[in-house]
Formats: sequence, structure tokens, C-alpha cells
Amino acid sequence: MALDTAKIKGIAFDAYGTLFNIASIDFLLEQLFDDRARQVAAQWRRKQLEYTWLRTLMGKYKDFYSLTEDSLYYALEATNTVGSEAQVRELMQQYYHLAVYPEVKATLARLKGKYRLAILSNANPSLLEKAAAHNGLDEWLDEIISVDQIRQYKPAPGVYQLAERSMGLPTENILFVSSNTWDVSGATAYGLQTAWVQRKHSVMERLDVQPAVTMTNLAELAELLF
Ligand code: LAC
Repeated sequence: MALDTAKIKGIAFDAYGTLFNIASIDFLLEQLFDDRARQVAAQWRRKQLEYTWLRTLMGKYKDFYSLTEDSLYYALEATNTVGSEAQVRELMQQYYHLAVYPEVKATLARLKGKYRLAILSNANPSLLEKAAAHNGLDEWLDEIISVDQIRQYKPAPGVYQLAERSMGLPTENILFVSSNTWDVSGATAYGLQTAWVQRKHSVMERLDVQPAVTMTNLAELAELLF
């Protein structure tokens, strides 16, 4: 379905990879684990996602911070990397002060006022609030919506429904923006309008749904909506 810009009243952004750049964690991983860093990073991110999906299927919710810590320990063990508790803590702390992508602040500033702006994320409210405040995003965001309220992770339909409930807008009036292909698919399947931010080379999922629009960064979104 093509993007229906006239209907959009609110925009909900995914957090990691969309607004926040997790590359700053990679920098510390390299400092700590040298030539193992890439392997650890890949396993960590993969396991983190798997645990969100598995725990939702299992009906065994655990908050995102704890699950991310579990997946880091898993990644270290799986790659035969020695990491101390202090190093794990240091890596986890990075989540509180991740940098945003360069165009994020200007884009939110431009969209603010015309649209209701929100983050819709798997992460704990406190993680999101601190990372947003660290980057001065709280000034532009109307709300920060965490799956923690419903104890289910993306792409469970209830998560996207939570955006409607929290933003007080019907499905067709919300544009959901994510760089994560599976997240875009989940939101599209639920019925939200969707934009895929293809920040790096990746291909769309084959899950029988397509985003309304694809872009390479968020500045293009602002162009499209004005
Ligand atoms: C989030 C992850 C999926 O913020 O990026 O929900």
C-alpha cells in the first residue's frame, strides 16, 4: 500500500538502529575483546532478538535490559571469549548513553508540532528515557512507549496496538518508522502505515507485507511529509 501522507497524524519510531546508533557499543567491544569483538557483537545482537521472540512465544517475559545482559553472557560463552562481570556491566551501561544518528534531532524538530511523535520500543522505559534525555530528544517527543506495559515483544500485534492506545490515534493515522525489516513487517501486518529506513544494505523480509515507503535516512522522511 502506498503511503497516505494526508492521513498521518502521529509518527512512532523504533529505537535501536533507527534513532539510536549502537555502533558506540561496538567501539567498546573492540577495546575490550580486540579481534573477537565482531563475533561477540554479531552473536550478542542475534541472541538479543531471539530472546525477545522466544520469551514472547514462551510467555516468559523478562525486561529488555536483563535479556540483553543474558544474551551478552551467551555471546561471550559461545565465542570462547573471557569477559568479567565488570566488563559486562560497562557494556550494558552503554545503552544508557547511545548516540543518535546525525539527522535525528533536526528531523524530529521539523516534524514536531505537525505530528504527534513517539518512540515505540522493546526497551525498558528507564533505558529509553535516559538515552533520549542524553541526546536531548525529550524536547521533541510526545511520548516514549515501551512494550514493558504489556510484557510482550515486537512483533506481537499487541505492541503495535499499544502505539494506538498510547497515542490516542486510530491505526491508519499512525506511521511507524523502523530500520529493522522484521519490525517493519510486524507493524505493516498489524495495519499501521510503515516506513523502512534502509540505513545499510539489507533486503526486505518475505513475510507477504511491504512497507509503504523506503528511505535511506530520516531526513528523507521529513522531506516526504512537508
Ligand atoms: C526496539 C528494537 C527492535 O527498539 O530496535 O524495539
